[in-house]
Amino acid sequence: MSDAAPPHREATTTRPGPHPGSSTPSAEGARASGDAGRPDARGLLDSLGPLLLDWLPRQRWFAGKGRPITGFALVSATELLPPSGGAPGLLHLLVHARQEGMSEDCYQLLLGVRDVLPPHLAPALVGRPADGPLRGRAVYEGLTDPRLATLLLERLRVPGRLGPLRFTREPDVVISPDLAPRLLDAEQSNSSAVYGETYILKLFRRVGPGVNPDLELPRALANAGCARVPAPAAWFEAEPRHAGAEPMTLGVLQPFLPGSADGWQLALGALAVRADFTASARALGHATAEVHLALAEALPTTVLDRHLLETLAAAMTRRLEAAAEAVPALRPYRAALRAAYDDIAAPGGAGRTWRAQRIHGDLHLGQALRTPADGRWSLIDFEGEPAIPLAERRRLQPAARDIAGMLRSFDYAAAVGRAPGTGWADAARAAFCEGYAAVHPDDPREDPRLLRAHETDKAVYEVLYEARHRPDWLAVPMSAIRRLADGHRAAGGTPV
Ligand SMILES: Nc1ncnc2c1ncn2[C@@H]1O[C@H](COP(=O)(O)OP(=O)(O)OP(=O)(O)O)[C@@H](O)[C@H]1O
Ligand SMILES: [Mg+2]
Repeated sequence: MSDAAPPHREATTTRPGPHPGSSTPSAEGARASGDAGRPDARGLLDSLGPLLLDWLPRQRWFAGKGRPITGFALVSATELLPPSGGAPGLLHLLVHARQEGMSEDCYQLLLGVRDVLPPHLAPALVGRPADGPLRGRAVYEGLTDPRLATLLLERLRVPGRLGPLRFTREPDVVISPDLAPRLLDAEQSNSSAVYGETYILKLFRRVGPGVNPDLELPRALANAGCARVPAPAAWFEAEPRHAGAEPMTLGVLQPFLPGSADGWQLALGALAVRADFTASARALGHATAEVHLALAEALPTTVLDRHLLETLAAAMTRRLEAAAEAVPALRPYRAALRAAYDDIAAPGGAGRTWRAQRIHGDLHLGQALRTPADGRWSLIDFEGEPAIPLAERRRLQPAARDIAGMLRSFDYAAAVGRAPGTGWADAARAAFCEGYAAVHPDDPREDPRLLRAHETDKAVYEVLYEARHRPDWLAVPMSAIRRLADGHRAAGGTPV
C-alpha cells in the first residue's frame, strides 16, 4: 500500500507507543513438530534468533514496528527441502515474536539455506548463523529464490502432509508443473508469488488459529457459483497443536487475473485525464452486490435486533469519543456524529429489518481488480483488516460496512487525483450505490441510516489515523465529517 493510499487498516508500521529498552531475545518453547526431516528446533532458534531480531522488524509485513522484540518461541520447524551439495534447502518456520506491551504475534517464515548465496539473491539475505545446525550457511528469504518458490508450488500440486503442514488441492484443479515464479513487489501485509501469470500464491505472514477468511469466503463463493472472486485452487495449513484447536491457514493459491488493474489505479487514471468513472463505479457496485448476495446465500446471516444495533452504535460512539479526545478538530461535530449512531440504536430507530452477514470486511478500490479483456470486476483479499482479531473479522456484520468502505475510497481517490470540487466523488458514490441497488434488494440509498453510521465510523477512524500519521491528509476525512454532520443536521440527508 503506498503512502498516498487511504488508511484502510490500522497502520501497523507506525503504531505509536512507548519504546522500552531492548532486551536480549531468547528462544523458548522450541518445539519441532515436523516428522520428516525434523531440524534441531531449539538449536535452530537459538542460532537464528539474533538474525531474526534484526531482520524481522525490517520486513514490511512485520506488524509490531516500533517496539523491540524481547523473545522468540518456535511453534514449528519443518524442512520442506534439506540442502544438499550446492542445492538450496527450504525451511518452514512458525515463530512467535514477543514484544513489550503487545500480544505475541505468530509469523510464518520461509527460509532458504545455501552454502553460497548467488549475487542476485544477496538482497534477500537474513544472515549467517554463528552457531547451531545452520552455522556459517546463508539463510535468506526463500520466496525470492525461484527454485524454492517452485518447490512450494510442487507441494500444492501434489496434496499431502509434511510434519504439521497439510497441503490441499481442489480435486478438479490441475496445476501445471512448469509455471515460472516471480515474487510480487507490492506494498502488502503478506507475500505473494505469481506463477506463470496463471496462479498467485498468497503467503500469510501473521498467522493464527482458525481458517483465514481469505480462504473461507472465496471457497464459499466459488461453491455458490459466484465468479466475482478468484476461486482457491489449493492451500496449505498448519495442523492444530492440540485436540479441539483449529488449523492455521498459511497460504492460498488462486487464479491470477493477468493484465488486471485495481480500482485505485483505474480511478486515479480516470482522474488524471478527467475521464468519467461512473460507469466503472456502477459496475463495481453491481459486483459488490453480487458478492454480498452470494455470501448471504452461502453462509449464515442474522437479523440485527435491537440489542445488536445498540452494541454496534455503542462501539462506534466509543471510537468517536476516543478520536475526539485526540483530535480537537473533530469536537465541533461530535454531537451531530453521535446522533447518527443514536439513529440506529434508538427505540424504533430501525424502522425496518437490517441484516448482518459475512462481508468482505476491508473493501476499498484497491481490493477490486478489473480485467482488460472483458472489463469485469473481481474482488480480492477477503481477510478483512489484519489488525482486528480473527474471531472478530469472522463475525456477521451489516453489508453497509463494505459499502461505506468503498464510498470512502472514492473520496480518497478524488483527493489524491486532485479532482476539482466534490463532483467526481459524489458522482462515483451515487453510481456505485445505483449499481448495487440494481442487483441487491437492499438499496443503500433507501434508508441511509445504517450506511451513514458506518461511513461516519470509517471517516472518524481516518481522522484519527491522519492526525497521527499524515497530518497533511487530515482535510480529506474532515471534509467527509462535515458533510456527514451536515447531512444529519439536515434531518435525513443522505451521505451518498
Ligand atoms: N487473483 C489475482 N490476480 C491478479 N493480481 C492479484 C490477484 N490477487 C492479488 N493480486 C495482486 O496482488 C496484490 C496483493 O494482494 P492482496 O491484496 O490479496 O495481498 P495483501 O497482502 O492482503 O495486501 P494488503 O496488505 O494491501 O491487504 C493486489 O493488490 C493485486 O495487485
Ligand atoms: Mg490484505
